[in-house]
Amino acid sequence: MTSDTSAVPRPANAGELRVDKISMRFGGLKVFDDISLKLAPRDILGVIGPNGAGKTTLINVICGKLKPAAGQVFLGGHDISGIPTHTLSRMGLVRSFQQTNTFRTATVRENLSRAIRFSAGSAESWRRMDDLLVRFELLHRLDEQSDKLPYGLQKMLGLLLAYATTPKVLLLDEPAAGLEGRERVRVDDFVRHAQQDLGCAILIVEHDMDLIRRLCPRIMVLDAGRLLAEGPPEEVLSRREVIDAYVGAIEEEEEA
Ligand SMILES: Nc1ncnc2c1ncn2[C@@H]1O[C@H](COP(=O)(O)OP(=O)(O)O)[C@@H](O)[C@H]1O
Ligand SMILES: [Mg+2]
Repeated sequence: MTSDTSAVPRPANAGELRVDKISMRFGGLKVFDDISLKLAPRDILGVIGPNGAGKTTLINVICGKLKPAAGQVFLGGHDISGIPTHTLSRMGLVRSFQQTNTFRTATVRENLSRAIRFSAGSAESWRRMDDLLVRFELLHRLDEQSDKLPYGLQKMLGLLLAYATTPKVLLLDEPAAGLEGRERVRVDDFVRHAQQDLGCAILIVEHDMDLIRRLCPRIMVLDAGRLLAEGPPEEVLSRREVIDAYVGAIEEEEEA
């Protein structure tokens, strides 16, 4: 994020994302081939798969951080290939990180102010966040330094920074990773707010299958860079090949 607040026009249908046959490689390593997906406003799509499957790389390609070897990404019908990440953020396409990503030495309030200024937001942007600030127990911590917050709250602040820019498409990379069980429902709150109040389309990468089942009417399973399965979670997660490649392994891990 920079302090430059010049307005970048948003496509009229900024909540529509289309990923068309993208392939990605790092040197000789093929990460994935021929991946396509579509999100309409308020859609929630879960993307799951083992570590190294290419989920974070998929987010990095969609948000403009990495250039695909082939294929295109469209936002609101406009080809956004080659547009830098910070410009795409202003156009409404915003990602969150697997790790926490706050301005570490700034207060919670200053973090949120910067995100609001970045997207040329206003008092209205603050008002919209009230409810989430209360639910995340951050309202009475606005003057605390962000890197002094407990880990779970830093993670929620990271999500709120994305929310503060009034996104239209949100790409969430393991929002529940490292959170305790009782903190995980905050991710549900966040996703529902973004969907209902901002009208966001949301792509969510997660290993927490309960959370995926709660939030996602549709999921994609990536395995070693290929699309292994796609459809409603209850159906996809019971397929033999998905259990063999992924679900079996995480359930064993959880039981251990
Ligand atoms: N910057 C990079 N340079 C080279 N290889 C990378 C880079 N980023 C990721 N990879 C490789 O791409 C594959 C997919 O990684 P990643 O997208 O992080 O997987 P996931 O998020 O599903 O765990 C892995 O084999 C990983 O080692
Ligand atoms: Mg990842």
